[in-house]
Amino acid sequence: MEIDRRLFIAGLGGAAAVATMGPEAKADAIEDFMIEELAAEDTAKFPTVAEVEAQIETRSYRRGAGSLFIATRGNVKKLDPMPEKPTLIDFYNHRFGGVVRHCLQSANHAQKTGMPEEIIFACLLHDVVQSMMKSDHGWWGAQLFEPYVSEKVTFAIRYHAALRFYPDPSVGYEYPDLYKRIWGEDYKPPAYVETTYKMVRKHKWYMAPRMVTVNDLYAFDPNVQVTLDPFVDIIGRNFKQPKEGLGNDNSPVAHMWRTIINPDAPL
Ligand SMILES: [Fe+2]
Ligand SMILES: [Fe+2]
Repeated sequence: MEIDRRLFIAGLGGAAAVATMGPEAKADAIEDFMIEELAAEDTAKFPTVAEVEAQIETRSYRRGAGSLFIATRGNVKKLDPMPEKPTLIDFYNHRFGGVVRHCLQSANHAQKTGMPEEIIFACLLHDVVQSMMKSDHGWWGAQLFEPYVSEKVTFAIRYHAALRFYPDPSVGYEYPDLYKRIWGEDYKPPAYVETTYKMVRKHKWYMAPRMVTVNDLYAFDPNVQVTLDPFVDIIGRNFKQPKEGLGNDNSPVAHMWRTIINPDAPL
């Protein structure tokens, strides 16, 4: 597939934003761009669950693996060195990869539509854990951030992924076509997702993860150029950055940050 270079760079936030991206992040972004373009070409036809399952043995990797650990085409690249005391922003710039663009677009949409700061912040964080783990990513993401963010932001991240399977017309949220594509059009979520949905639906904070799903945009809009800059102050106010650096603070999740810093460690 031919990549429209101008459209691609614009979608990443312009040449200045691209200049701050490492080679791995660029490779991820190209991958995402092509997936989106392909999806746009073929919106009418969705696979069945059986067809999705039949694809498993056509791959050398499992779909739940984080993008830091696999190159779906060619080989993985050397990662940028990280500072000794890495901050959350260092992870956006050097590790989280292609999913950053999706999170920036979601946070930008939340900001433009007047969402509270906690929701904008939750949107900014909601999927970045997919660089490490895609399966059950709501739970993994909440765990990664729990020591550093408010309980409500943790709640929003943990449950956004389960809520994505359930429409809520009161806020204009519909089941996404992307899910029909990646899960199969006849997919039914497992019992634990259904149970989680029922619990969250009755919870006083239901609207927090729900608003993450409302702002969870997969559409590629070349006219929206988003960088991390407008969110730096929001991160400053809402993220308890450990002074030792993420990975060095002996928190219960420090090892998860170290794994993202060095996914090449063989043990
Ligand atoms: Fe998500
Ligand atoms: Fe998302």
